[in-house]
Amino acid sequence: MSDALLSIRDLSITYHSQGRAVPAVRGVSLDIEKGGSLGLAGESGCGKSTLANSILRLLPAGTEVTGQITLDGKEVLGLSPGGLRAVRWTAGAIVFQGALHALNPVQTVGDQIAEPMSLHRTVANDDAAKDRVVELLRRVGLPAARAESYPHELSGGQRQRVLIAMALACDPHLLIADEPTTALDLMVQAQVLALLDDLKEERNLTLLFITHDLSVLTYACERLAVMYAGRIVEEGPAWEVFENGSHPYTRALAAAFPTIGDVGSRMAPSGLGGDPPTPGDLPGGCPFHPRCPLAHDACLPAEPELRISGEARSAACVLV
Ligand SMILES: Nc1ncnc2c1ncn2[C@@H]1O[C@H](COP(=O)(O)OP(=O)(O)OP(=O)(O)O)[C@@H](O)[C@H]1O
Ligand code: SF4
Ligand SMILES: [Mg+2]
Repeated sequence: MSDALLSIRDLSITYHSQGRAVPAVRGVSLDIEKGGSLGLAGESGCGKSTLANSILRLLPAGTEVTGQITLDGKEVLGLSPGGLRAVRWTAGAIVFQGALHALNPVQTVGDQIAEPMSLHRTVANDDAAKDRVVELLRRVGLPAARAESYPHELSGGQRQRVLIAMALACDPHLLIADEPTTALDLMVQAQVLALLDDLKEERNLTLLFITHDLSVLTYACERLAVMYAGRIVEEGPAWEVFENGSHPYTRALAAAFPTIGDVGSRMAPSGLGGDPPTPGDLPGGCPFHPRCPLAHDACLPAEPELRISGEARSAACVLV
């Protein structure tokens, strides 16, 4: 895709932990065009945050990363420390999973929002930084007085808004939102989603949105990618993938939402039994086969590659 703001090619990421290799992401390729939005879905542990953190090289030291990440025309994996500092907050910024842990408990939120601005010298002086903090707080729906608050004085939804304000401080081109609404109640979740939607339009932001909740992604994003065991197993236009998944895993995720008013479905959501495999200990062939209702002999010899499954769609399943 020529006008991609973010282009990832054959990305593999292996953690080394307690003498064990943990291949958390395996050969992922994806593109997001300028102003576009991609939702990344998948169960816990499938590699979503690992992939997101690699885009701004936020992985722990010693993590092995191979492949190519091109953000705003820059090859991220080859950047010097200075080059990397220049890219963070401006080319791309991230709203982390878990707002309480992502904020410094002993610094006011106003100072934390101002920090990237002084780092990148995007404001002339302290007064200009304060004005900009107030403008950003207002934009995310918080009163100016909140600049003086510490994180523990805010509700979960307010903290999430602060993280969004901080991420917007240097007008990034790509916004990565890693589970920004998972810990929020449904009303606040809807408000934060609407805010992200407005900001995307208003600033022509490119959005990478991560959550295990397919319905949220379908609301927030134009395209959807589904990860399983460190790989993308399906990608395509969000509504089509959600409503008519080509991969059995996508269909199981889409079916896993409880039906409103049906208490039984909340206690036992339809769809999947069992757990995803542990990285480094994958079953042979298609890694989904132990849980797949359609598994058969053809699924065992090799891991299926992504194949075209419709217009602008692909899926990694032998039945495609
Ligand atoms: N620092 C680390 N060292 C070793 N293994 C790690 C590290 N961070 C993550 N992992 C492992 O890598 C795999 C992918 O983790 P990751 O956090 O990317 O998953 P996720 O899809 O974001 O899950 P969740 O939905 O729970 O946030 C998991 O098996 C996890 O245990
Ligand atoms: S390749 Fe086989 S096991 Fe894997 S998703 Fe397709 S049908 Fe299921
Ligand atoms: Mg995660």
